[in-house]
Amino acid sequence: MMVSEELIERCNQRIAAYDCEGFVYGQGPSRPVIMFVGEAPGETEIHNGKPFSGRAGRYFDAFLEQLHVTREDVYITSTVRSRPYKWGKGKNAGKKYNRTPNQKEIAAHAPILDAEIEAARPKLLVPMGRTAYWRLLGESPQMTEVTGSFFSSPIRRLESWEKRMYLFTDTSYPLFPLYHPAAVLYNRSLEADIYSHLEKLKQYLSTD
Ligand code: URA
Repeated sequence: MMVSEELIERCNQRIAAYDCEGFVYGQGPSRPVIMFVGEAPGETEIHNGKPFSGRAGRYFDAFLEQLHVTREDVYITSTVRSRPYKWGKGKNAGKKYNRTPNQKEIAAHAPILDAEIEAARPKLLVPMGRTAYWRLLGESPQMTEVTGSFFSSPIRRLESWEKRMYLFTDTSYPLFPLYHPAAVLYNRSLEADIYSHLEKLKQYLSTD
C-alpha cells in the first residue's frame, strides 16, 4: 500500500465532520504507467471496497477495454475516498444519495492523493471529470475544452489543511484529462468524443 494507515486515519478524522461515509483504497501496481483520478466513491464502491464498481464503473471498464489494459495494469484512485452523501427528502427521507464532494472534503482527503502521486510517480495522470481536474490543476474549465489533449503541468498539493491552501509542485507532470465515465450516463452524445480520446491514449500506451 502506498499510503500509511496513519495518514489515512488523520485524513479520515478531518472528513468525519462532513456527511461522508466509508473508505475506498486506491488500487493498482506500485509503479503504474497511468493513474486514473476520479471524483469520489458511491454507494456500491463503499459497499464492496472496489473503485469504479457501480454504475460509472461499467463505463470505466469499457474505457479500460478500449485501451486494451486491465485493472491490474493501471492505478485507480479518486479525489475523495469516502462517499459524500445527502439525505433524500419527502418520500425519500431516510435514504442517502451520492453527491459531489465539497472543497472542505476535497482538502480533507487531499494528502492521500498527494502521497499516492508521490509514491507511484505515474508516467501519466488522467483526471476524469471536473472534480479531479480542479483538484489537480486549480481550474474549472468546461471539460470539452480540456479533454483528450496531452499537456505537462505542475499540479496542486495541499499545503495547509487549516487554510485549505494548495501550492503547485516544482516539477511538471504529464496529464491527459478525460470525461468522467459517468458523464456518458447523462450525455450519450459524448460517446464519440470519448472514443477518440481513448484511441489517443491507446496510441500513447503502445509507444510507451
Ligand atoms: N466515481 C468515482 O470517481 N469513483 C468511483 O469509484 C465511482 C464513481
